[in-house]
Amino acid sequence: MAMYKSFCFILFVTASAEFVWKHHNNEELPQVLEEVNKKCPNITRVYTLSETSVRNVPLYVIEFSDNPGFHQPYKPEVKYVGNIHGNEVLGRELLLGLANYLCDKYNERDHHIRSLIHNTRIHLLPSMNPDGWQLSMDVGHQDYLIGRYNNHSVDLNRNFPDLDAITFEFERQGISHNNHLLKDITRLAAPLEPETRAVMRWIMSVPFVLSAAMHGGDLVANYPYDESRSGAPVSEYSASPDDDTFRELAATYANAHADMSSQNRAGCRAGQDEGGAYNFGKQGGVTNGAAWYSLKGGMQDFNYLATNAFEITLELGCQKFTPEKDLEKEWIRNKDALLAFIWKAHSGVKGIVSDDSGFIENAIISVVNITGPVPRPIRHDVTTGVYGDYYRLLTPGRYEVTASHPGYLPVSRIVTVPQHQTTARILNFNLEPTRSWFDDYSTFSHYLRAGQPRIYKRDLYRQLTGALLDRSGR
Ligand SMILES: *[C@@H]1O[C@H](CO)[C@@H](O)[C@H](O)[C@H]1NC(C)=O
Ligand SMILES: *[C@@H]1O[C@H](CO)[C@@H](O)[C@H](O)[C@H]1NC(C)=O
Ligand SMILES: *[C@@H]1O[C@H](CO)[C@@H](O)[C@H](O)[C@H]1NC(C)=O
Ligand SMILES: [Zn+2]
Repeated sequence: MAMYKSFCFILFVTASAEFVWKHHNNEELPQVLEEVNKKCPNITRVYTLSETSVRNVPLYVIEFSDNPGFHQPYKPEVKYVGNIHGNEVLGRELLLGLANYLCDKYNERDHHIRSLIHNTRIHLLPSMNPDGWQLSMDVGHQDYLIGRYNNHSVDLNRNFPDLDAITFEFERQGISHNNHLLKDITRLAAPLEPETRAVMRWIMSVPFVLSAAMHGGDLVANYPYDESRSGAPVSEYSASPDDDTFRELAATYANAHADMSSQNRAGCRAGQDEGGAYNFGKQGGVTNGAAWYSLKGGMQDFNYLATNAFEITLELGCQKFTPEKDLEKEWIRNKDALLAFIWKAHSGVKGIVSDDSGFIENAIISVVNITGPVPRPIRHDVTTGVYGDYYRLLTPGRYEVTASHPGYLPVSRIVTVPQHQTTARILNFNLEPTRSWFDDYSTFSHYLRAGQPRIYKRDLYRQLTGALLDRSGR
């Protein structure tokens, strides 16, 4: 009898930990993440964003890293955001499934997944709009719109500060300034919703390099800009300075998906003559945002124009509310694409900018494309983080990369970015002060006040590079 009892107990424990493909409600969602964290305590951390949804549901994130909770130099950070529109539910379940898969494969010592987790910090936010999800569930998820918005009836993917307007205005004035534009904003079109604020804080505080937001209602990988320059509502291609790189990022997802890029598949709203009735398969499963339809205040363009992150938008299927019976099938159709896209954080170049006393934070990395006969500057700079580290996603080709910072002589280096990278080319820079540090102190003291150049002490620098070298043997 006693034996029978303990047998039952073991069965029960195993059953509760087993991941099931279903629509996980707002209580079950964190339980799945906790289960994964229990199975993989050394490589995961579950945390919540700074604010809850309107109806007080926490916004849960699970992080994968070999040092959870910490940014590590040379390791790019990636995020996936699901369920920003509450009634578009597939991304939410795919991210729960992905969390479970990464953990299981890591524990099975899968070489590919171990290498990914040892070299990348991955954050998954399965639901940005748990209130909309709940409403959509409550009404039986029939309606095409109910549950899309948050509980204040606001579309969260229209609620981000419109930085496109700023960059387009700079373009008209001939000013070449296309990054970290949040400080140039003078007013908000609408108050920020708590979900938006929480995600903005997150985006601004973690040095993300690559990101995708998940939607439903079509099958296409959509890339910046989402907003047209002229204000045209549809069909105006709105290229960003990184158009080539974005097209490659989007194509990576589409090509690794079971049929996003398939020429022969039917379009989602075939036969309807509304504006959205494209057959994206015919164009490789990718689209520029504004070439489809223009929107203001989206999260994708905000990432690119406010931070160093490159974000695309994934429309995961014709149906917004995927039936439960199709979830596992959809996982199989998306699994390779989800992983291939994360690997793209390892394309282009990365490195550390330092001077003789340590790292230089907020150094500017600018790039000129010298692949063709005419050098073409890519007018979107990235900046270095707290360890002086930067990550510059690029397509294969030849580039002149320049590191600069007020008070230092800029340094340029030529680099060739090869095809099929699984690790970015490393390009470190050592900058020399224009004058000695003490001479500069008064000239550049306003930067110091703004908290700008944070020069780290040499021993901290040594300690960290030493720690990195120790780890590279793994
Ligand atoms: C976590 O790391 C510790 C120390 O390295 C190790 O002993 C333990 O087996 C690891 N646990 C798992 C679940 O991998
Ligand atoms: C807000 O949430 C409540 C409780 O779930 C629901 O009854 C109400 O319809 C929601 N309102 C909106 C605008 O979503
Ligand atoms: C640089 O130019 C080459 C040749 O035109 C092109 O193939 C490549 O995509 C460009 N790179 C970027 C990042 O724009
Ligand atoms: Zn959507």
